[in-house]
This record gives sequence, C-alpha cells and structure tokens, in this order.
Amino acid sequence: MAYYIGVDLGTSSVKTLLLSENGIEKTVSYDYPVSIPKEGWSEQNPLHWREKTFEAIKELTKDIDKSLVKSISFSGQMHGLVLLDEDNNVIRPAILWNDGRSEKETEYLNNVIGKEKLLKLCGNIAFAGFTAPKVLWVKENEPENFARINKILLPKDYILFTLTGKYYTDVSDASGTLYFDVENRKWSEEMLSILSISENMLPEVRESYEAVSRISEETTKELGLPTETVIAAGAGDNAAAAVGAGVVNDGDCNISLGTSGTIFVVSDKFSCDKKNAIHSFCSASGSYHQMACMLSAASCMNWWIKDIMTSDDFTLPENVKPGENEIYFLPYLSGERSPYNNPSMRAVFFGMSVNTKREDMTLAVLEGVAFALKQNLEIIRSHGITVNSSRITGGGAKNSLWLKIIASALEVELHVPVTGDCAALGGALLGAKSVMPEEDYESLTEKLYRDEKIIYPDKELAAKYNERYKKFLRLTDFQIKI
Ligand code: XUL
Repeated sequence: MAYYIGVDLGTSSVKTLLLSENGIEKTVSYDYPVSIPKEGWSEQNPLHWREKTFEAIKELTKDIDKSLVKSISFSGQMHGLVLLDEDNNVIRPAILWNDGRSEKETEYLNNVIGKEKLLKLCGNIAFAGFTAPKVLWVKENEPENFARINKILLPKDYILFTLTGKYYTDVSDASGTLYFDVENRKWSEEMLSILSISENMLPEVRESYEAVSRISEETTKELGLPTETVIAAGAGDNAAAAVGAGVVNDGDCNISLGTSGTIFVVSDKFSCDKKNAIHSFCSASGSYHQMACMLSAASCMNWWIKDIMTSDDFTLPENVKPGENEIYFLPYLSGERSPYNNPSMRAVFFGMSVNTKREDMTLAVLEGVAFALKQNLEIIRSHGITVNSSRITGGGAKNSLWLKIIASALEVELHVPVTGDCAALGGALLGAKSVMPEEDYESLTEKLYRDEKIIYPDKELAAKYNERYKKFLRLTDFQIKI
C-alpha cells in the first residue's frame, strides 16, 4: 500500500486529496478569505494558505499509517505574486491572478516594450493578471517593499517552500509569469532585466512531475509524515486539472468551471496566438497547451445566488426555458482576461422588463458564462484546432442545467469525470509519477478516470443559442465602448 497526497491551493479554499492504488481515499478542504482592499484588487495572506494546508494534511492523514505516504505535490492558483524577504518573511499580501491593479504596467509592457518582443521572449503578451506587471506595480508603488525582495514565488511554490525550506517552481506555473521563455522552458533573462529583477530571486524551474526535494525535518515532525516523503514540483491549477482529467494528448480539451473559467487544449508543439487573446503555456505532461482564461465563471453564480439573492439554493424551476431568455448577462465581474485583456470591463444584466423574474436572471447568468466560453472557443477553433468533445471539471460542472447549456452553446460533447476534484487529483498524480517515473499518465489516469456522464449538445437549443450569441457579442462590444 502507498499513499500520494495532492494539494490544490485554490482561491477560495485549499483542497487536499489522498490517493492510493485503490483510488481516491479521502478529501479534506478548508476555506480562507480573499481580501479586496480596493475595487478591482484581490489579495490573500500566504500565512493563511500555510495554516489551512497543514491543517488539511493533518486531517487527511489522521487515520492512516503515515509511514506509507510516498509523495506530496500541488495544483495552485496561478500568477499570484508572493514576495519574501531575506528571512523568508512574507513582505506584503499576495497579489492574486484576478487582481486588476496593474493596468498601467500592463499597458507599458504591451505598448512600450511591445507585444512583438513579449511574444518573442515569453510566447505571450502582458495581461493584468500575470505576475510581471505586478512586479512592476510593486516597484512603482511600494519601492520600500520592492527593495526588500529576496525571493519571488508563485502561490503553490510558497507551500512547497513551507514543506521543504527550498525554492522550486514548475514549467506550467512559471509560464504565467511573463518572465518565462515558454517555448524553451527557462526563465527569460531579457524579461528579468526589463523588470529589474535577477534570476537568483526566482525559484529553480522543474517539470511538473519531477521530484525536487524530501520534506524538511521540521515539517516531518509537525505533520508526522516520513522523512522520505518526496515533494514534486506540481503544476498551475489548469495544467494539474488536465492531468487529473486525463487530458494529456495532443488536441485533448478540458473546460474548467471554477472561480475562473478556462478552456485548455493540449498541443505537442509550441505556438502562440497572434490575436493575443489566448495564452500559450507549458503543460504538466511535458508538452504545451493553449488556454483561454475568463476571470469570472462559477464565481458569477456564487455572486448572484449567495451575495445578491442571499440564498444557498442554486436550483432553477423546471419551467425555465433555456434559449428563450430575453435577459442577457455579461460576466465581467472582475474585468476580463480572455479575449479582452481589459480589467475595467464590468458585468451587465440587459433586457429586463416588468415581467422579468428572478429565475430569468439566474438563467441569464448561466447562459452569459456559456456565451463568453463560446467566444473563446471560437478563437481557439480559428487556429485550426478542432474541438468537438471536451472534459469538464470544477465546481460548476456539478450543475446539470449549466452542462446542457454549455454543451449546446459550444456545440461540444461534454464528458464529466466521476472525480470532481481533478486539480487536487492531478497534484497527487504528479507526485505519484515523481516516485514512479516509468509510469505514463495514461496508465496512471486510466485506473482512475471514468465518465460519470456525457452531455450531448441539443441541436434545437444550439440553433437558438447561435442566434442569441450574436446579440451577446453586440452587447459586449457596446460595453467596451462606453
Ligand atoms: C489561469 C488563471 C486562473 C487561476 C485560477 O491563467 O488565472 O485559472 O489559475 O485559479
């Protein structure tokens, strides 16, 4: 018997998962807060991540023979800026992936340094959520903090540091910094000099499935895990979820409906999006992927149902009619990344009349996110990539009506895995592979992956959505202009 622990350091919670040869044995999840000091900002305290991750690992392993734990690895929210001083103290709260404060710095990188140069150096242009514009923001706005920087880490790499005392990252997460040469899988010296930082401030980069260290002695004592426990580099959350969902071969697609909404397509070859809407990143399985990232997906439903309707009831009455709704919702609660790269966009409800009911607005939220996904998928398709079928993961994939809407709007067959926690599972699998390098992903996931259900597009609904999608695009266009 052997155990492999996966840690998914998300935006609203940390999810830990215990994997054995028999499959998923247990999951434990703890929440932590996001702080929004100003509109459009989004921060978290890395010490909360550490506290909740350690608590979750203790709870996860409390009833097992801990000496059988072989590895720990990670899935992590991407792009976040974690700054450590010389004594490894956290200098300021982490600035997260959905923080839009660095609009000015993003513009500087895209317009003064220039998109062409960025594409050449890093395979991507600057998006406000990426790490590089955040580094410039701290340099410009908090020079005293900038002067104290000894190490710059990504969120999950901070957890790796707390477990090992060492600094490592992986290629998939490093891809989202915009100081990483994605095609050649190494830090970009030229970008580092543009940002006035040096390579010794950065963690060493490894492939996601590589063992980087053993657990530190101090942590062994705290968690009661064996000193031989291997820590593998892990991956950014979308790359890890892809591994957990068995999306590892050229052309495979995964849609993730978490706080963010992403469309992730694996590619054996590196290529970048000349329209600048889609990210080109390294995958956790050794190749590349193209990814569209919308900043608000399942979070739109949470906002609408919980914050606005002050309810916990996400169900819709039987009589709602998808495809016949006159209400539209533009899902830009935190601005938008793909395809607009515009932190100032905001969400909109459109088309209400005196007859509008609460459920029409709820349906509009589900449909609005689906239309925004469609817009991104059309860009991916315009690169000659065929997507007729996709796996779908993340919290939003539990909502059957939403699945039907998305399958029909995107005209894609959706495969829903039995395991909802694909990102944490991906993390555990990366750790398992690090201690069993001879195993390939197919054989690792084959044992675990099963479709819970397949949702087919409904032709009639797809036709209605094709019409409505045109109006969604016109509304979005109008939103940008005002
Ligand atoms: C990907 C991205 C988000 C976060 C969410 O580019 O920004 O998916 O990783 O956790």
